[in-house]
Amino acid sequence: MSIISSDISKAVALLSTEELVAIPTETVYGLAGNIFSEKAIKSIFQTKKRPFFNPLIVHIPSVDLLQNIVSYIPEKAQRLADAFWPGPLTLVLPKQSTIPDIITAGKDTVAVRIPNHPTTLELLNQLDFPLAAPSANPFGSISPTTAEHVNDYFKDDIKMILDGGPCQRGIESTIIGFEGDEPIIYRLGSTSIEAIETIVGQIDIKNKKEIAPDAPGMLDRHYAPSTLTVLTDDISETIQKYSEKRIGVLAFSKSSDHDAVAFQIVLSESTDLQEAASKLYDALHQLDKQDLDIIIAERFPDIELGKSINDRLQRATVRA
Ligand code: TXA
Ligand code: MG
Repeated sequence: MSIISSDISKAVALLSTEELVAIPTETVYGLAGNIFSEKAIKSIFQTKKRPFFNPLIVHIPSVDLLQNIVSYIPEKAQRLADAFWPGPLTLVLPKQSTIPDIITAGKDTVAVRIPNHPTTLELLNQLDFPLAAPSANPFGSISPTTAEHVNDYFKDDIKMILDGGPCQRGIESTIIGFEGDEPIIYRLGSTSIEAIETIVGQIDIKNKKEIAPDAPGMLDRHYAPSTLTVLTDDISETIQKYSEKRIGVLAFSKSSDHDAVAFQIVLSESTDLQEAASKLYDALHQLDKQDLDIIIAERFPDIELGKSINDRLQRATVRA
């Protein structure tokens, strides 16, 4: 059984003896271990059933420590770090030789970020090593945004879940890599492209087929409920099409009144994309528990965080 607790000193004690602790961040909960402990890092991969070719993100408490993790910082990377850290942005840069190969899956680059959560920043400040932390879910399933979600997945596998309340952002960090000195988006996430472009100018998204073997966060089917889930531009038409079934609806701002709808969640009545993002994964967790035949999810406007929400919905669904 895991202990769910907000006791930071207990988390320090466990992490310092090579155990895993689930930690809160502003994006999603992470499954954390000491980057220099081979035992802890192997245990992260085993607990998640994550393939070893999928590298981990290193979490640090301050920008000064970046130079201990990476060997080269392009000027635009420095500007992005200054603009968005602590926050939901991950930079992929050439690694220092001290970063173990198991963290980077043998690659010569390492992913790093400063999470923006007071509990985890305090935890990182008390530790004398950085934490590797992938999202605290079994490989391929929905990321957790509450301590309870983590407990549902891993109560028999980890000793402690450090409770920091529900995640405020709700979608994973945006990942940016570099080709030469030019930034490129590897994974859409909680920092919008529009916000990034105000700092570094126009930026491209790396073709997902190219990146798939490197960043399985970009694999087609990921973040998926076990219930059949479809994505649609027209909720009422799709409800009609499946009206013989027990339907769940995941809508942006408006509810549906069709009799076939057994359960529905409206993510933001006021059409606030950040509010919708913060509730997205919890809504998928809830819908997945309702014994539905099908979940019908509505496509979001293709701007700002709507792009990141659509990216996750596409990976969770098949087309209607
Ligand atoms: O918001 C987040 O980023 C959360 C919280 C816990 O910080 N973490 C997270 O980790 O989403 P994870 O492991 O679920 O996703 C990390 C992604 C993976 O798709 C991985 O392939 C990619 O980052 N990645 C890690 N290192 C990389 C590298 N050197 N090059 C390219 N992609 C990398
Ligand atoms: Mg993940």
